[in-house]
Amino acid sequence: MRGFIFDLDGVIVDTAHFHFLAWKKTAEELGLELTIEMNEQLKGVSRIDSLKKILGWAGKEIDQATFDKLTTEKNADYLAYVEKMTENDILPGVEPFIREIKSKGYPVALGSASKNAPKILEKIGLLSLFDTIVDGNSVKKAKPDPEVFLIASKNINIPQEECVVFEDSEAGVTAANAAHMISIGIGSPDNLGHADHVFENFTEFSTEFIVNLEPKVK
Ligand code: BG6
Ligand code: MG
Repeated sequence: MRGFIFDLDGVIVDTAHFHFLAWKKTAEELGLELTIEMNEQLKGVSRIDSLKKILGWAGKEIDQATFDKLTTEKNADYLAYVEKMTENDILPGVEPFIREIKSKGYPVALGSASKNAPKILEKIGLLSLFDTIVDGNSVKKAKPDPEVFLIASKNINIPQEECVVFEDSEAGVTAANAAHMISIGIGSPDNLGHADHVFENFTEFSTEFIVNLEPKVK
């Protein structure tokens, strides 16, 4: 494998928990208690699609102005958590892994649904590691659509079947599989069972293991 694409939230940093706390508050305003199980279905999903799902669970319909107000408030709450982040919030093993991949001369891409991705990478000091950043500002179709990963593989000039995607979300693994890329789930097999391999974190596998994986489609 020659191209390496990383999701951000829940793979490089534990912002997944901050998204959860912020959406939990929004859900409360709509009379819904957001559970951990519901939150799994929000991971990897765009801001707009997340609120649509929450409204569906709450059985609520709202006008566009209220919808916009709720997403703006959620993002402000989320960014208040992000503001306190430092390089100490980088998840175990991921930074050395990316640096080793880069030292072998392979390109590294970010493939995230978040519109806050560049801000977060800057905050944790990893912005300059990425050869391309494909985020929520650059895609038309959100995960589970494969668009974000297809643009990333094009930007790094590596055929999609030679790319590996690291993902913590159900929607993201589905997107990587749809792109015919190797999907590495970071988290639990309970909800990432459709990934090609699942690990708890980046300390559990070597760069050699990843680089030597065979493409699914030749
Ligand atoms: C994904 C997160 O990376 O980005 C989702 O897993 C989030 O939880 C989505 O909703 C959009 O993020 P943002 O920062 O643009 O609201
Ligand atoms: Mg994620």
